[in-house]
Amino acid sequence: MSRRTLIAGNWKMNGMSFDGIALAKGVANKIKAAGDTSFDMLICPPYTLISSVAAALSGSPLSVGAQDCHTEENGPHTGDISASMLKDIGCSFVIVGHSERRSNYGENDAKVLSKAKIANSVGLNTVICIGETETERDSSETINVVKAQILGSVPDSATAKNTVVAYEPVWAIGTGRTPTNDEVQKVHAVIRSQLALKLGADTANSIRLLYGGSMNPENAKELLSLPDVDGGLIGGASLRVNDFWAIGEGCP
Ligand code: 13P
Repeated sequence: MSRRTLIAGNWKMNGMSFDGIALAKGVANKIKAAGDTSFDMLICPPYTLISSVAAALSGSPLSVGAQDCHTEENGPHTGDISASMLKDIGCSFVIVGHSERRSNYGENDAKVLSKAKIANSVGLNTVICIGETETERDSSETINVVKAQILGSVPDSATAKNTVVAYEPVWAIGTGRTPTNDEVQKVHAVIRSQLALKLGADTANSIRLLYGGSMNPENAKELLSLPDVDGGLIGGASLRVNDFWAIGEGCP
């Protein structure tokens, strides 16, 4: 089953109009200059930049996504943003369950599942994030943790078209540390078999699994060549046009 590589940038809480739009245009220019690419690219700016980035990217194959959404479509939720609002301003993807949301806002699998469901119901594709903490890794709980997160966070209706799963070990995010390639492959294979139990083998074999956590131009090539790694979810390095592009160019 061939899965097209997805190189996704999560800008997190970074970017003002002047540099965010320039960054997005810089990536779009790289794609244009390359002509056809063998991989897809997605950028997820902060809410404040989504409209202007989407406008700047009109005509580019680069997709735009958000970093979170609410579980409801509208209503009395001061400060929140719904999936349909994101769709309305040009998003085709939304990240749900990022570990920074899980830890900063106590979001559990049930909440992540609700977000994924409403996002899919309004026509957004999701990037559902899972991954173990350092304590869980140290107590050899990684496999159990990711299995439970898949069971709890991925909708039964997930398809290869509307869902991407990102494995992001929490201890690898922004630290410069990564698991070994063998460890990444092992966890991704477990994720895929857990998805097969939930969604059937065909869907599981078609769903893209991204690795995230200190991915950079130096380590991307090897990570992206692992059999069950179908792309990357990139934080820090996605804020620099050349680094983000170099990661894509490193795709096998
Ligand atoms: P870094 O690439 O900065 O480690 O961030 C990864 C991440 O959290 C992407 O969602």
